Amino acid sequence: MKTKFSFNLFGSFRSMEQFMQQLPYAVLLTDQSGRIIECNEALLRVTGYTRQEIVGHHIHVIIPCQGTMEQLYREWTNKEWESPLEVEWQDKSGMTGRTNVMVLVQDAEDPLYLVHLLNLAKDSNDSLPQRLVTQLASDIYLGIVVLDRAAKIIEISQMACRLLGVERFNVLNQHIDKAFEGIPEEHRLIKRELLKGIKLQNKAMSWTNNSQRYELLVNSNTLHDEAGRIVGAYVLFKDVTNLRSFEQKIERSDRLAMIGQIAAGTAHEIRNPLTSIKGFLQLFLQSFGESGMERERTYTEIMLTEINRINSLVSEFLLLSKQRDVQYQIVDLNTVFEEILPIVNSEALLHGIDVQYLPAGQLPMVVGDTELLKQVFLNICKNGIEAMEKEGVLSISHHIDVEGDKISIDIHDTGPGIPVYVIDKIFDPFFTTKEEGTGLGLSVCQKIIHDLGGQIRVSSKGYGTSFHILLPYI
Ligand SMILES: Nc1ncnc2c1ncn2[C@@H]1O[C@H](COP(=O)(O)OP(=O)(O)OP(=O)(O)O)[C@@H](O)[C@H]1O
Ligand SMILES: [Mg+2]
Repeated sequence: MKTKFSFNLFGSFRSMEQFMQQLPYAVLLTDQSGRIIECNEALLRVTGYTRQEIVGHHIHVIIPCQGTMEQLYREWTNKEWESPLEVEWQDKSGMTGRTNVMVLVQDAEDPLYLVHLLNLAKDSNDSLPQRLVTQLASDIYLGIVVLDRAAKIIEISQMACRLLGVERFNVLNQHIDKAFEGIPEEHRLIKRELLKGIKLQNKAMSWTNNSQRYELLVNSNTLHDEAGRIVGAYVLFKDVTNLRSFEQKIERSDRLAMIGQIAAGTAHEIRNPLTSIKGFLQLFLQSFGESGMERERTYTEIMLTEINRINSLVSEFLLLSKQRDVQYQIVDLNTVFEEILPIVNSEALLHGIDVQYLPAGQLPMVVGDTELLKQVFLNICKNGIEAMEKEGVLSISHHIDVEGDKISIDIHDTGPGIPVYVIDKIFDPFFTTKEEGTGLGLSVCQKIIHDLGGQIRVSSKGYGTSFHILLPYI
């Protein structure tokens, strides 16, 4: 005879559930009347029931003994450890057997009973292939669903659960129509048709659950018995979302390269006639001036300004698409900033923006092209000023990067920042969110800095944006 054997629900009911799931044999938790409150996966495995068919029902569906829970507990405590209590149990199909039990009672006024069916281990009869399936089912990268002939889910991997938005424990032994109740048949990944012999081989499919879109490679086939009859089906899927987005990136850069080539060709074709138009307009300007035709002279002036705009745009196209010869020279960054700061300041003044130039000591020398470097810093400062619109601070500072081999020029603005869905596109040619923008500014900057062996990094977390231009220094 055992002395009083009770348990406490230390912690939450949830931790109790987790504890039950970890047990290798079948367990039931009931209330005083014998109503089942929870069970574990091992119990579903050995009985063939779904969780819904067990929870809320009387323990008699599994252990058809006649007494109350209190009596079952007493019976167990009256036994010696050496001769454990044995009871009859039955599975869903009505097959019966015997198992040793251990019964614990909760130390509470309205106690719960924890019934351990010690011989009903979930994998006591597992063959090696079955163990392989179990192992694969916990593989976080592989989606597995195995159906029996009646379209009940008899195995489903963790990854498949995550992707399909279900809980393994809730859908085991469940019919697929019930398990995926909310999803219309035609949109299901796991369809009844699978049992009709439909075979998929590495079929690329997209699947969207509530939170995310996945790109999958799906394989499926039917399972047969010795007589060749269909006894079930399986679906295997692999998440290739990353691979697909990599492919899309390559496709995109191919497309961009093509645009670049077309732009380069077109740019030349535009530039030549522009040169002659510009020449003739300059002649007009002179004659209109001499003959006092003021209105015509003004129009011609406007035309010339516009032509210059087209010309500088075309130069940017060419710079982007063609390998321009960089004029390598030793550049003093202090001079570069001395020369661009008046331009930045006047632009900032127009927008009511403060510019703070905070060089911590002398800037080092770098190897590069003065004019191109000016273009880079100006472009980035201009973007910052445009982002802030009417007020804010543009600060320019520098530091030596962690590896110590590059100088980082840091340009920070207090604008609205760059949304995450935009940030990886800002260096693409022609990407702009501005009505008047060409979207070439940053792509030109990136090309120039890469040609000089440097890098441009951007960080923007909700508010404000920082650009870091890293350059090797001497
Ligand atoms: N400091 C910044 N703050 C917020 N968004 C920025 C900032 N810098 C760049 N961007 C975003 O990046 C996009 C691309 O910038 P980029 O300089 O390449 O072109 P643009 O400024 O739109 O056009 P352009 O330079 O021809 O005037 C901008 O349209 C803007 O959406
Ligand atoms: Mg710009």
